[in-house]
Amino acid sequence: MRVLNPDRRPLVAGNWKMHTTPQSGVELARAIVRAGPPDGVDLVLCPPAIAVTDVARAVVGTSIRVGAQNMHWLDSGAFTGEISAPMLAGVAEVVIVGHSERRADFGETDEMVNGKLEAALAAGLTPIVCVGETESVRDAGGAQALITAQVEAALAGIGSTAAEPLVMAYEPVWAIGTGRTASPAQAAEAIGWAREALSDALDAAAAQRTRILYGGSVSPSNARDLLTQDGVDGALVGGASLKADDFIAIARSAVS
Ligand code: 13P
Repeated sequence: MRVLNPDRRPLVAGNWKMHTTPQSGVELARAIVRAGPPDGVDLVLCPPAIAVTDVARAVVGTSIRVGAQNMHWLDSGAFTGEISAPMLAGVAEVVIVGHSERRADFGETDEMVNGKLEAALAAGLTPIVCVGETESVRDAGGAQALITAQVEAALAGIGSTAAEPLVMAYEPVWAIGTGRTASPAQAAEAIGWAREALSDALDAAAAQRTRILYGGSVSPSNARDLLTQDGVDGALVGGASLKADDFIAIARSAVS
């Protein structure tokens, strides 16, 4: 199984959410290629499922990789509307698992996240597992406990070797799509909690090699402050990833 990057090279992923058609997705991917992906950072585009194949074709021959935003935990079956890890594996290299919008809006539980992670790893995909607290949990002082519980639950029964390609993303729910970013210190602290939980769930070496991204209203203007924090290994970008120049500016911040 190929690890995208064993040295925690920065990774910047664009989560396009439910935006773009196959055609406009290809145009956006081409614009991102034209804008000039910087060296030294892994760039991942995660279009809607229907655009994954076309966007993957559009970036062939570049260093950009393509991922999906979600998948089912089983390989096949009577699950109308779903796609599975083996289906994705022929087209994509990455998949986002456990995004807070899936957890909050589609009833995705920790157990489902665990099953999806296991299936993604078995299919040779690089999973980006999302964790993060709501504002009320943070206000009540429960952020660390929740992040720890989410990491533990996601990794239950998964060994350190199997989890080698794992990427995680700390996305505080209160910062997603709100224009309110976690402060660089808050992001670094929470990512530290997630890494500690990873060390307990897997082992210290796995925690050290796993890239943990920050997500939540990342923009060209705040990216540098966030991405230069110790332990912040890149960004999972929503809104700003839909503009080629903004996305590339964020990627540049990760390496300059
Ligand atoms: P925004 O960058 O739009 O806040 O979205 C973040 C996110 O949810 C990425 O997965």
